Amino acid sequence: MRFSRAVHLVMMVGLLSSLLTICLWSTCGGKISTLDERKIALYKRNELLDNSPSFVRTEYHKRGTNSIDPNNAKDEEEEEEADGEEEEEDEETAEAYDAKTQAKGKALTFASEVAVKDIACKINGEKRVNCKKMKDEVYLPWSFVKPYFEVFGDMQDNDTFDFHHANSIVHPPQATYGPGSMFMAFDHYTVETRDRVKCITASEGVPITTQWNSKGYHYPIQVAQYGLSHHAKHLVNGEPDQLLLEDGEDDKLPNWVMPDKKSEINVAKDSKTGARVVEFITSDSLQTKGIALPITEKSLKCLSVDVRFSTNGSLSVVGELSNGERIRIHFVFSRTDIALDLKTGSIYYGLGERRNEWIHLARELKFDVMKGFLQKIKMERVKNPLWFKRILEIRVHGHGWLDNLTLSSDVHMDQFFASAKWLVKHQDERGGWPIMVTRRLVTGVLELPPGWYSAMGQGQAMSVLARAYTLTKDRTYLDTAVRALRLFEVDSAQGGVRARFLGKLDWYEEYPTVPSSFVLNGFIYSLLGLYDLKLVADGEGKETAERIYNSGMTSLKTNIGMYDTGQGTFYDLRHISAGIEPNRARWDYHTTHINQVLQLMVIDDSKIFKTTVHRWLGYLKGKRSRHN
Ligand SMILES: *[C@@H]1O[C@H](CO)[C@@H](O)[C@H](O)[C@H]1NC(C)=O
Ligand SMILES: *[C@@H]1O[C@H](CO)[C@@H](O)[C@H](O)[C@H]1NC(C)=O
Ligand SMILES: *[C@@H]1O[C@H](CO)[C@@H](O)[C@H](O)[C@H]1NC(C)=O
Repeated sequence: MRFSRAVHLVMMVGLLSSLLTICLWSTCGGKISTLDERKIALYKRNELLDNSPSFVRTEYHKRGTNSIDPNNAKDEEEEEEADGEEEEEDEETAEAYDAKTQAKGKALTFASEVAVKDIACKINGEKRVNCKKMKDEVYLPWSFVKPYFEVFGDMQDNDTFDFHHANSIVHPPQATYGPGSMFMAFDHYTVETRDRVKCITASEGVPITTQWNSKGYHYPIQVAQYGLSHHAKHLVNGEPDQLLLEDGEDDKLPNWVMPDKKSEINVAKDSKTGARVVEFITSDSLQTKGIALPITEKSLKCLSVDVRFSTNGSLSVVGELSNGERIRIHFVFSRTDIALDLKTGSIYYGLGERRNEWIHLARELKFDVMKGFLQKIKMERVKNPLWFKRILEIRVHGHGWLDNLTLSSDVHMDQFFASAKWLVKHQDERGGWPIMVTRRLVTGVLELPPGWYSAMGQGQAMSVLARAYTLTKDRTYLDTAVRALRLFEVDSAQGGVRARFLGKLDWYEEYPTVPSSFVLNGFIYSLLGLYDLKLVADGEGKETAERIYNSGMTSLKTNIGMYDTGQGTFYDLRHISAGIEPNRARWDYHTTHINQVLQLMVIDDSKIFKTTVHRWLGYLKGKRSRHN
């Protein structure tokens, strides 16, 4: 019980998407600063209400363009397939502001001795807000300004308020692009920390999501992005630090601790390959201690192993949490993907039904622990978040064999290939990865019943598969990617992913609704996938990829201006195709649009991309297009 209480207090923050995530992620161990947004920040009337150049040029603290801001980590990481989710905005009403300032009495004092007068502000003749007047200046409460103008800000330190129009950050791509290089700036994305990712399964090593169905399902886009983000992280990090613990070659058997006299551990030959592996025989009950390998290494927190069982065996990791508590992560034969038992401090990951076959496990244990706790504990902000500190022991149960037991600083390449292999295994006869949940873009107007395909899913899969092919030259990956082209030449109404704008321009649909939705970011992701494929494919596959890509690029260059609102971008063109209210891209998606156009500029130097992205960057700082 002590354990569960500790977890309750501590763990939630971790998942809070902001600081804890960063901490777990980068093993920083630094202090968590609270991000309280003070309500005393006041804005000058003429900067707010005048649509004058001085407003546009208002100076504010410059935000780094290529750094992860803890305030925005969530938005960043959520951006790729966050469709349909509303961001929670911590909006405080003007009333709440009044109550607070009154309660605080003299909270508002000014260095000079100038009198501050309470006045009322009439807002567009519709409502009144309590304001302050000092000399000739009028101040509106931030709690009013923030939601009213959809702007952001917080106290940077005691004396500086950091104001910004947008709450997301541009991540410029690398200078070169191709199927061997980093996909956009995906090293910044961590699919695992998204709240809706239930876990990374032990059976296939890919994420399972609960976004549109709480039971959990694989979302091809998410699986592909998981692969692309780990591919990108590998390019940034280089080869990981590794420590080989056991491969049946060296005489390391004495390191294993036996629970009893009946248990055995030996070097054996794998019946198929003849390779030397380690055979273990002990009880398969988790009530027993199992055969254990104590770990002295402290900094390597990822585990990989090849393991095969002939009984209901299991492999377990005993770890230490940041508060000194023990946690046990058991990889067991079960169809349940993940389960948590707080009483014993145990997290179970299901291997599926894979007895008597070699299973390759590559686990980033900090995320296994994080997702384990999330099964029962709700996230909330706490002072000392709990995180996975180190591996103490590895245990095996049952009768089986293991090889290549390794600790490492990361397992990015294993994670990347898990994604690529999943895509190979789960492609259907139409060359697609069907999505088995209902998608309601606009209820009753733009809906997709289960079994739909996404051009974005097809394209992102191509980007993964083109990279896997580039690394291995294994044609299975290439052939799978080429088959994924077929749905690009089938109309949405026929179950494909192609729409036609005004009956003329080919448009590959992230959500192939009828009427079409023309989602911009999904379309560009599909173009990048087609580009990757046309560079690695040969023969007919190459020609087809080129044709579809060229046609899509023509459409994009013709249509990109349709998405420009003059102060931001539209997420899609539903207001044109379905005659309904326009859907402005929130800042996350606006920066995604920018990141994507910046990436396209690396492979296509059309002027339209340059002039467009220049304007779009300005919108992030409150600029607007000229008016008449
Ligand atoms: C901010 O104000 C607090 C309370 O007055 C003070 O303890 C702290 O040192 C100040 N920090 C800075 C950076 O000035
Ligand atoms: C494994 O467990 C299942 C279910 O508990 C049981 O039916 C089966 O007999 C066990 N198999 C072995 C080889 O122990
Ligand atoms: C262990 O790793 C080696 C090198 O990657 C590989 O050839 C071998 O097949 C692996 N062992 C098993 C049992 O998969």
